[in-house]
Amino acid sequence: MENGAAKPVIVAIDGPSGTGKSSTSKAVAAQLGLSYLDTGAQYRAITWWMVTNGIDIEDPSAIADVAGKAEIVSGTDPGNPTITVDGTDVSGPIRTQEVTSKVSAVSAVPEVRARITELQRSLAKSAEIGIVVEGRDIGTTVLPDADLKIFLTASPEARAARRSGELKGADVNATREALIKRDAADSSRKTSPLAKADDAVEVDTTELTLSQVIECVVTLVEEKRAAK
Ligand code: DC
Repeated sequence: MENGAAKPVIVAIDGPSGTGKSSTSKAVAAQLGLSYLDTGAQYRAITWWMVTNGIDIEDPSAIADVAGKAEIVSGTDPGNPTITVDGTDVSGPIRTQEVTSKVSAVSAVPEVRARITELQRSLAKSAEIGIVVEGRDIGTTVLPDADLKIFLTASPEARAARRSGELKGADVNATREALIKRDAADSSRKTSPLAKADDAVEVDTTELTLSQVIECVVTLVEEKRAAK
């Protein structure tokens, strides 16, 4: 670019769980000096708030009624991504089995999605150099004008093996079943389901190491930046 600073670059990374989305997105953002947003953490945070406040997760209208109550704040430094709800650090509690098993139901409620999507768009808008936003509907719904859209995939076996590794030796078969169930729920919901945008680059990570995936995405971002 000849005059002034480069324009911010917006990168959307979508895909199901266990494809290496978070590790890849964080590393790419860190390497390129971009901000980073984990949108799954935001849906987990609002789910944590619902559980903590005794909201009936089986009742979408009860969830919709209180969708605007929790104040969710995401820190976007890829070296130290933070998440708070009403000022409380919930980075640990949002990873419990209870929240994981309830997050698909909460995130399917349109009022919840509208609220969280608004937060995501405002964070992306305020990123000065650019941002890597990871999730399920970023390329299709949240940031349809993103400069680069990546859709990560991997076989269910590879995804389950990675997740069980993260969960320190959890049973691979049980993890695989839980992942498949959650992906089916996330892909079949009516409002902004997990989906690949038509203009997204699909990267199958089954046979790739994490460093290979990172390198591939960094190259794609650099190409886009050079063309801006
Ligand atoms: O990425 P994760 O596993 O932490 O995401 C948790 C859940 O949040 C996932 O099962 C579906 C939901 N989610 C969503 O609906 N839309 C997003 N953009 C990100 C996550």
